[in-house]
Amino acid sequence: MQKSWWKEAVAYQIYPRSFYDGNGDGIGDLCGIVEKLDYLQTLGVNLLWITPFYASPGVDNGYDISDYQAIDPAYGTLQDVEELIAQAHQRGIRVMFDLVLNHTSDQHPWFIESRKSQESPLRDYYIWRDGKNGREPNNWRAHFAKSAWTYDGQTEQYYLHTFSPQQPDLNWQNQEMRTALYNIIRWWIEKGVDGFRLDAISFISKAADFPDHAGDAPYIFRRAPMMHGAEYHQFLHELNRELLSQNDIVTAGECIELTVESAIEVAAPERQEIDMPFLFEPTEYVINHGMDVPKLKEILTRWQVGLHSKAWIANQFNNHDLPRVVSLFGDDQAHREASAKLFGTLLLTLAGTPFIYQGEEIGMTNNPFPSLIDYRDLAAFSEYQKMTEEEGLNSTAALATLHAYSRDNARTPMQWDDSPSAGFTTGEPWIMVNPNYETINVAQAMGDSNSVFAFYQRLIALRKQHDALVYGDFELLLPEHPSVFAYRRSFEGERFVVVLNISAEMSDMGGVDFGGGDSADLILNNYLDIATTLRPYEARIYRETA
Ligand code: GLC
Ligand code: CA
Repeated sequence: MQKSWWKEAVAYQIYPRSFYDGNGDGIGDLCGIVEKLDYLQTLGVNLLWITPFYASPGVDNGYDISDYQAIDPAYGTLQDVEELIAQAHQRGIRVMFDLVLNHTSDQHPWFIESRKSQESPLRDYYIWRDGKNGREPNNWRAHFAKSAWTYDGQTEQYYLHTFSPQQPDLNWQNQEMRTALYNIIRWWIEKGVDGFRLDAISFISKAADFPDHAGDAPYIFRRAPMMHGAEYHQFLHELNRELLSQNDIVTAGECIELTVESAIEVAAPERQEIDMPFLFEPTEYVINHGMDVPKLKEILTRWQVGLHSKAWIANQFNNHDLPRVVSLFGDDQAHREASAKLFGTLLLTLAGTPFIYQGEEIGMTNNPFPSLIDYRDLAAFSEYQKMTEEEGLNSTAALATLHAYSRDNARTPMQWDDSPSAGFTTGEPWIMVNPNYETINVAQAMGDSNSVFAFYQRLIALRKQHDALVYGDFELLLPEHPSVFAYRRSFEGERFVVVLNISAEMSDMGGVDFGGGDSADLILNNYLDIATTLRPYEARIYRETA
């Protein structure tokens, strides 16, 4: 297997709006990130993914871009971006930016021009269609709206938007549009950025002729005809050939509904498309069906074994679109610290580049939003509307669902200390601070050698020291055990065994066979003393020696 810096990297995702406010206006910003680079260096991460900070009306917190080469003044200036890249590089930290290539804002000059007339020279940069029998061109749904089509009275056609009506989809079939995007990306590469996360990339190619989806399919499958169209791989290959392969640039793709086979298709090195897709299956499974340890073992084993030496993956249990991992996968009450450390152990000992999401390293939890008006995410409002108007839920039930799954759970301010607003801002925070900040915060965690933070530090250091944790193959142990996930990673004579008790109950060790080794040293454990049985959410890493 080809070694590369980005396979060995430990990545950290920053949602700038909620990370650190450098100027006291209540909104996190670029100079705030620069101020916290020493913190990130102390944690040990060496690759950042920073979500959008470009000029934007902010309908979807920056995923609606109105100028790819300008910076939203709420976040800072182009100079701040350059400073951020330089300061990160000085600390041995590489930087990935977010590329939103499927759509722009409706305030982008391209769209403003495109919607002027059917003859506009930029008309074809977007996807316009006539209506059908006085209705939308087809039955496609948008993520944040009922229909994926919005009628524009001025030119009497509909435009397509996979997300909100303020996020019109770009037409990738237009070569001139693609070239315009490549020029923008080239400009960013020249600024010294080391890689990109490709937002919503599955949607850049739609099914030919735009067929209706099967109306009775479960909601999630109704988007099938909107993605992975015939030209998907061709577009990604072109992007790679034009830009990425000529520079040492890493790409991580938000590839939806991925299978082992389709991951290999998009990320096998010889395909020259992207370097690694994100793995969402474990999280999606738990969101849809609840935690099920045998199923989690099956999913992760299938991916670990299936991709080995064929393609790379980006592992992530938490991001700005998902609930907090300790709340979703673990126990954010009695076993918060132990379960946060356990899922950290899992993340940092699998094959694939680990992406830690801000706050995960201190075990931040979901947030108890008191009512609908406390949410900020447009998806929270559209989901609430869907639940109450289409699915017949009452308000209490809809709010309970939002509480568990809303994207805003991950977007509350980073908890730096126990001062007002968790030390995130001296002003009024743009979204409420999680009330548990008085006990869960960075200052507390850094002062405690047994904290979740300290444990992440050790895990990151361990991964950086041992190729077996990066490149090693994966062998599932105890396949039948109902609550213990145990596996071996081996590479060039080095062997590690990871044992995770994913449960709030005690469990036996299930007779893990430290094969061939007559000694196995316990090198990391989230409990301080040693016991023969596994305690709730106990996580252990052994190193085997012959
Ligand atoms: C991706 C982003 C999400 C955004 C959407 C539209 O899924 O992660 O936050 O709303 O794309 O750009
Ligand atoms: Ca600010």
